[in-house]
Amino acid sequence: MRLLFLGDMVGKAGRTAVWQQLPGLISDFRLDFVIVNGENAAGGFGITEEIFRETINAGADVVTTGNHVWDQREALDFASGEERFLRPANFPIGTPGHGSGLYMAKNGARVMVSNIMGRVFMHPELDDPFVAAENALEACPLGEQADAVIFDFHAEATSEKMCFGHFVDGRATAVIGTHTHHPTADHQILPGGTAYLSDAGMTGDYDSVIGMDKEEPVRRFLRRCLSNQHAQHQRRHGERHDAHDLRVDGDHRSEPHQRLTLRCTSSPKRCSCSRCHALQPQSGRSYTRHFL
Ligand SMILES: [Fe+2]
Ligand SMILES: [Fe+2]
Repeated sequence: MRLLFLGDMVGKAGRTAVWQQLPGLISDFRLDFVIVNGENAAGGFGITEEIFRETINAGADVVTTGNHVWDQREALDFASGEERFLRPANFPIGTPGHGSGLYMAKNGARVMVSNIMGRVFMHPELDDPFVAAENALEACPLGEQADAVIFDFHAEATSEKMCFGHFVDGRATAVIGTHTHHPTADHQILPGGTAYLSDAGMTGDYDSVIGMDKEEPVRRFLRRCLSNQHAQHQRRHGERHDAHDLRVDGDHRSEPHQRLTLRCTSSPKRCSCSRCHALQPQSGRSYTRHFL
C-alpha cells in the first residue's frame, strides 16, 4: 500500500497546486490513499465546504485540520456530515465533526486516520492528546480493525511531537506532524516500526512567511504592532509540496519512506544532487525524490 501525506495546504497557491497536481501524483506513484491537511486552505484561515469538496474530488481520501479548523464558520455546519473531514479528536466532547475515521484505500486496505492536536505552546485547555490517541487505537487497533493507522499530529513543539511518536510506536503505521508549515528532516522509522516525521511542511508558496505575504509578519517583529491579518500568498509560481510517500508492508509495519519535494514552477529544474534523481517533468511538474 502506498500512502501520500500533504502538509498544510495554504491559500489559493496551495489549494490550486493540490487540485492541479494531485490526480497526476496518484497515477504517477500508484497511490492507494491520500491525506491532505486543509486547515489553511481558505485564504490561510480555515476551509470552506467548496474547498473541501474540490480537494476530495482531486483525489484526497481524507482532509485533516488543526487549530484553524473553525476559522471559516461554515465548517461548523458541514463537519458533522462529512466523514472524510477531520477536526482534532481531542476537542471537547460535543464539538461538531469527527476526530478519527476508518476508510477503505484503493487496494482494499482499511486505513484509520486520526487528527490530534498538541497542547504545548498552543491550546493547553484541550483534552489530553495522548489519551485521545489511546482511545483511537483502542477503538481501531492496528492489525485488527485497521491495516494502517495514520496520525496527523498537529502541534507546535517538536518535543511533544516526538513524545507522541514514541507513545504510539508499534501501534501506528505513521505519525506525521503538521502545523509549523516547515518540513523537518527527521523522517525515520521508530524502533517499534512506526514511521515518524515531526512536520510535513506545507503545500504553498515558500517565498513567504509560513505561506503568507512576508511584509506584515516582518513588520510585526520590527514594530510590535498588529495591523491586518496576514495576507495569504496569491502567486501562481513557486508553489511547493512537501509530500511524504509511505509504503506499508504486509505486517503493518512501515518501510523506509521517501520525501518528495515537488516544485510547480513555469521552468522546472532537475535536481543536481547525486543522491537524488528527478523524473522528467510532465505538465510543468518536477519531482525531486529524497530517499532515506
Ligand atoms: Fe497550518
Ligand atoms: Fe495549525
